[in-house]
Amino acid sequence: MTDKTNPANPSRRALLRGAALTGTALAAGAAGGRAMAAADPAITEIQDWNRYLGAGVDAAPYGMPSPHEAHVVRRGVSWLTAENTSSINFTPLHELDGIITPNGLCFERHHAGAAEIEPSMHRLMIHGLVDTPLVFTMQDILRMPRVNKVYFLECAANSGMEWRGAQLNGCQFTHGMVHCVHYTGVKLSTILEMAGVRTTGKWILPEGADASHMTRSIPIEKAMDDCMLAFRMNGEALRTEQGHPLRLVVPGWEGNMWVKWLRRIKVGDEPWHHREETSKYTDLLEDGRARRFTWEQEVKSVITSPSPQAPIAHGKGPLVVTGLAWSGYGTIKRVDVSLDGGRNWRTARLDGPSHDKALHRFYADVDWDGREMFLMSRAIDEKGFVQPTKDQLRAARGVNSIYHNNGIQTWHVSTDGTVENVEIS
Ligand code: MTE
Ligand code: CO
Repeated sequence: MTDKTNPANPSRRALLRGAALTGTALAAGAAGGRAMAAADPAITEIQDWNRYLGAGVDAAPYGMPSPHEAHVVRRGVSWLTAENTSSINFTPLHELDGIITPNGLCFERHHAGAAEIEPSMHRLMIHGLVDTPLVFTMQDILRMPRVNKVYFLECAANSGMEWRGAQLNGCQFTHGMVHCVHYTGVKLSTILEMAGVRTTGKWILPEGADASHMTRSIPIEKAMDDCMLAFRMNGEALRTEQGHPLRLVVPGWEGNMWVKWLRRIKVGDEPWHHREETSKYTDLLEDGRARRFTWEQEVKSVITSPSPQAPIAHGKGPLVVTGLAWSGYGTIKRVDVSLDGGRNWRTARLDGPSHDKALHRFYADVDWDGREMFLMSRAIDEKGFVQPTKDQLRAARGVNSIYHNNGIQTWHVSTDGTVENVEIS
């Protein structure tokens, strides 16, 4: 009888060695096959998971990430806000790849906490300058024709702490008020047409059912163009934090307009500018004037790895430099990457789907010589907009705003692989 789990079993050892050789042969060109040379215990020792039965199929009716991924979580910055009901946390961009943000990792921004709504009690009312005011149940909405779309959502305050200089040490904190989700829902134009918007109806005022009763004004052209009433994210129902059971999707435009827990849409002939709301659409300039109606999130990118929370752990040689690029004006056409603080640029490789107003993933496959680097990325969108440097942005807008900072980010990589948020000029 042969014991299949006995490490001393010669045929098994031979098999493992064979497997390791094949693996190393494949990897040799890239990483050098160091593991095999060092009689790696990961190859020579039988591990517990190889010896004992794993958990049965029903151990987790709703699956969770591997316990070894427990560090991949949303994080807040404690001094940023006084209370966690009117607060913000950040997507761990440095731990993710591809373009889709997993539901449990989408950053949260609430003005009055996350409302937990009983879906059968939820109503969406549409009224104001319409021929027929209407009220929909979730059942009604689930009977309308659906669309599927991938869009990024970026809070206008993303990177807002960085206006005056490098501040927060990690792309989770500097750029993590963005997520990208595959939405399923109904086009907003479907219900606007059902209600019959009058020719005098120029603006919509969506309102949330949370305790903040959040309202925003959106021009009717945008409402009729690509806005969505979404009830699913990445295939499953919206998460409570993201507005379950219904949220407004306003592609490419700043996050605060994407009203969560959407319960009412009023159609009017002018925008409703509440005091608080006015500040949301406004960037204060150096001379005291303000830019108003700055809705589109402009072309932007960031290197997510290496970055302060994702240092280089493996020394010199092959290095995957990767990051995200996005634009509220459409798709991303090109991303350039610099290793030397903007003196030389190389064109990065865009890989993965390219959706309108969605995150795009880029890579630069680098052979790192082990010397210090100043990593930068610069995105160009389909309209030809080029991501500005932070100095160009400041020259144009001053430093009084905390909104719409799409300047080029610099990461300093030390010879030991540690990474820091810096600015060079
Ligand atoms: N909708 C309601 N009802 N209440 C809110 O507090 N916050 C807004 C917007 N919609 C908010 C809301 C802001 S400022 C942003 S940036 C986005 O929701 C954040 O969406 P998320 O929490 O899904 O990331
Ligand atoms: Co916001």
